Amino acid sequence: MNSLQSYVDREQSRLLDDLKAWLRIPSVSTLPEHKGDCRRAAEWLAERLRGLGFRVDMIETEGQHPILWAEGPDVPGSPTVLIYGHYDVQPPDPLNEWITGPFEPAVRDGKLYARGTADDKGQVFCLVSALEAVKATAGRLPVNVRLLIEGEEEVGSKALTKFLTEQPDRTKADAVLVPDVHMVAPGVPSVDAALRGIVQAEIRLRTLQKDLHSGLYGGAVPNAIETLWHLLERLKGPDGKIRIPGFYARVKKPTAKELKAWKALPIKEPGFRKEAGTKALTGEKGFSFLERTWSRPTFEIHGIVGGYTGAGVKTVIPAEATAKVTLRLVPQMRGKEAAAQLQKAVKRFAPKYADVKVHIFAASDPVQTPLDSRPFQVLDRACREIWKKGISPIRSGGSIPIVPLLQQRKAPVLLAGIGLPDDGLHSPNEKLNLDQLWKGIVLFGRFLELMGEREVQVTGSRVR
Ligand code: BES
Ligand code: MN
Ligand code: MN
Repeated sequence: MNSLQSYVDREQSRLLDDLKAWLRIPSVSTLPEHKGDCRRAAEWLAERLRGLGFRVDMIETEGQHPILWAEGPDVPGSPTVLIYGHYDVQPPDPLNEWITGPFEPAVRDGKLYARGTADDKGQVFCLVSALEAVKATAGRLPVNVRLLIEGEEEVGSKALTKFLTEQPDRTKADAVLVPDVHMVAPGVPSVDAALRGIVQAEIRLRTLQKDLHSGLYGGAVPNAIETLWHLLERLKGPDGKIRIPGFYARVKKPTAKELKAWKALPIKEPGFRKEAGTKALTGEKGFSFLERTWSRPTFEIHGIVGGYTGAGVKTVIPAEATAKVTLRLVPQMRGKEAAAQLQKAVKRFAPKYADVKVHIFAASDPVQTPLDSRPFQVLDRACREIWKKGISPIRSGGSIPIVPLLQQRKAPVLLAGIGLPDDGLHSPNEKLNLDQLWKGIVLFGRFLELMGEREVQVTGSRVR
């Protein structure tokens, strides 16, 4: 651990420059104009891994961004660690809210600001730097390492889903590390025991053949925006309850042990409220804010388009309106089933005079991961060395659509990252605390070292 630490201390400024270079490539997967940048970001990483002695395959996907597959040197008899992450990022808007440009990485007060610092380039870089540090200090990697880094996580991982469905053996490993999540608080290492699944959809509704004069027709014809708003309220009530028939049927309460552990976490409602920047928290009564964000399903509206929104005024009754929505799903729920329930509910609740279409962009299942595997215990030991504190089991409300498929060959998945809850993922001024990055390199380096050891002393027992 000490030699890893000195390596990081020595190489810090170069590592920071390297990460900045990667962050300058605007790999926004959803915007067609950034297609070339996505490829450049993948190539940047491929070069870096080749430099570390990895064999890299750029897997082309149907007209989309390439999947990067990399294999380190064979270490016969040692475990295999598969690392998953993504090099694509979310769009940076609203641009005027960034203090420095989203693709002009800048350090302020020990934090590195840029799109992708925490989600997920900075965290992938942390792992790759851990590989570098271990290789430099020990002369070689102690385990077999594979990396699977995709460019379409932020748009639903379609190509990777196809790839891993056709080639399930790529997920054969002794541990799968997914550094695309965050720790619960500084100094409190944590691993997610579950992630929510997600259904991404668009509801498009038409009530008229064309927009009409609101004086001549107002009062007598259906307004598409008004009809959409009533429909949305039939899908989710003001009490926060989702009214889609059958939606809650599979929802399970977290175990008493989990709930107790969550209560002891150093994150409390007032702090969460402040960090979110709101005067009040809302949602279902009778559930704590952690339950509402971690173990309850949701229905969110992301955008509504319709009518006149230009400068000045226009007295018109809109003929069409659209809402972009998602459902977040908790363990036991199923993406396809929830998507079908949504479609059925919309058909049933929309008035007969409205033409309504639901388009499903993607539907992914929630996941649960085991917290008693050997790799988990090894990571716990590494956390105790670096943070003087073992892993707090938590959950996360976010989604990583590919994780269920990463589990298909039964490898234990570790949802562990070094980001923090206030990193501002998907928001303006996304950041990564540099202290977390440097500690993370040592942590994951240590994890790899310990994974390569035959016997590791962990608290209470000895694991082989
Ligand atoms: N890394 C996030 C998910 C995440 C963040 C999980 C923090 C746990 C803690 C990921 O890149 C993400 O943003 N996923 C999307 C889903 C995707 C289908 C757009 C999400 O959760 O909205
Ligand atoms: Mn991510
Ligand atoms: Mn994301």
